[in-house]
Amino acid sequence: MDFKEKILILDFGSQYTQLIARRVREQNVYSEILPCNVSMDRIKEFSPKGIILSGGPSSVYDKDAPLPDKEIFNLGIPILGICYGMQLMARMLGGKVAKSSKREYGRAALIIDDDSDLLKAVRSGVRRQKSEGKENRTSHAQRKTHNSKLQTVVWMSHGDKIEKYPKGFTPIAHTDNSPVAAMADKGRKFYALQFHPEVVHTENGTRILKNFVFGICKCRPTWTMHSFIETTTKEIREKVGRDRVVCAISGGVDSAVAAVLINKAIGKQLTCIFVDNGVLRKGEAKKVEDTLKKHFHMNIVCVDASERFLKKLSGVSDPERKRKIIGNEFIRVFEEEAKKIKGVKYLAQGTLYPDVIESVSFKGPSAMIKSHHNVGGLLKNMKLKLVEPLRELFKDEVRVLGREMGMPEEIIGRHPFPGPGLAIRIIDKVTSRRADILRKADAIVLEEIKKAGLYNEIWQAFAVLLPIKTVGVMGDERTYENVIAVRAVKSVDGMTADWANIPYEVLGIISNRIINEVKGVNRVVYDISSKPPSTIEWE
Ligand code: XMP
Repeated sequence: MDFKEKILILDFGSQYTQLIARRVREQNVYSEILPCNVSMDRIKEFSPKGIILSGGPSSVYDKDAPLPDKEIFNLGIPILGICYGMQLMARMLGGKVAKSSKREYGRAALIIDDDSDLLKAVRSGVRRQKSEGKENRTSHAQRKTHNSKLQTVVWMSHGDKIEKYPKGFTPIAHTDNSPVAAMADKGRKFYALQFHPEVVHTENGTRILKNFVFGICKCRPTWTMHSFIETTTKEIREKVGRDRVVCAISGGVDSAVAAVLINKAIGKQLTCIFVDNGVLRKGEAKKVEDTLKKHFHMNIVCVDASERFLKKLSGVSDPERKRKIIGNEFIRVFEEEAKKIKGVKYLAQGTLYPDVIESVSFKGPSAMIKSHHNVGGLLKNMKLKLVEPLRELFKDEVRVLGREMGMPEEIIGRHPFPGPGLAIRIIDKVTSRRADILRKADAIVLEEIKKAGLYNEIWQAFAVLLPIKTVGVMGDERTYENVIAVRAVKSVDGMTADWANIPYEVLGIISNRIINEVKGVNRVVYDISSKPPSTIEWE
């Protein structure tokens, strides 16, 4: 991506590295994360206006402590070290780092000793008054006076501390435990923070990052979705030329936004393929087709392969086998359809930034617990080249992009839906009758959640069909029917989740409606497990 005002983040493995990138991008300045050991050639090619060294789990004195190429300090551009990044700067530039006698985790009061550039205009709700030794709440901008010090709340997470700062540096802030909690070499524009400005618990974190990005690196806020659309569509046109592109549409946000963006760039050279695998939600295929065809006049081929999929799934109860069958069959159907289109050279995918960051620290545990369905196998078989226009975006940025292109909220704001669809929510064997039961119950869950105004605050809500039957009584007759479990969770990224506290009244309506309207169900239960130790999906 060719934006001139860029910040490079070198990743040393902190769980917060992605957050740094997001915070910088929120200021409309493009930032990218590269591994800490990336070559100088790559850094020069990226041509950043400033570098941020992330935190990380290592100690700079570990035998295999990760280090960047020391040439970064000769590039003549500003550098900001955060936590491990700070200790690393201290060590590499001639200072001394030692184990802290007291580890510092969580909230800490930062006392600012120099608020002239990096810590400029850092406002705080708390002012420490030296003369009285007590704290006083105030809401306006803070000015240092002879008897008071600026103080703000920061988030610490470190076991090492700076014992001797390198030549050229001066301390610009301290805490009770860290005499050098921030330091600066203003001449060379090198800055370092012991705390994490990227996390929300650091009161003035965004202000500090803004000071670095705008005040010190002199970036301008040119990274906007509008400019992203212009640049990316131009790039797609140049890359694809007159060739054709196919794109698998799943009904999810990412593939839909990628397709709309590519369609904007090359129009009818793009064909989208939507496969009905027989385990979609009620009305899903029609909804996706209507939206993309009517709103965006896209070439879209809808293939009803439901019978084929259900046949393959027949008698299978193991969740991982279900996933594999659906993944493989999807590839077959997709290839058959794609081969009917002449001159296809590219496959478009809605791959997002978190999937492509080259560091191990971002691979979440769920990847190892469940094999998630993807279309990667297509490339090998079809000899297609990839178009992945969302490779540099985070999920929330994809939503902003979709809205900017006029996509309806119905697609942009929808809950994630797994590739293997209802098959992993029909516990045990999948049949078309069981899929019908679940589809109907699932539609009621979503309808009522939407009616109650809860849809947007919930990460995912759905129904699960259990492999047991229980006794009930309807009218005067004994019934022996299926059980539906309702699952609704709140989450920010799907990696951890908590069950949603849906009001009893809403749960009551959902239960009544399912039992009354869905033939074959006589009991509804609500899942109150968090992730971990459970997972979001039941299989
Ligand atoms: P779990 O069940 O692992 O789910 O807590 C986390 C998120 O991933 C989705 N999920 C899948 N998505 N293929 C997908 O495309 C899959 O096989 C799959 N399994 C789980 C799940 O819906 C949730 O959003």
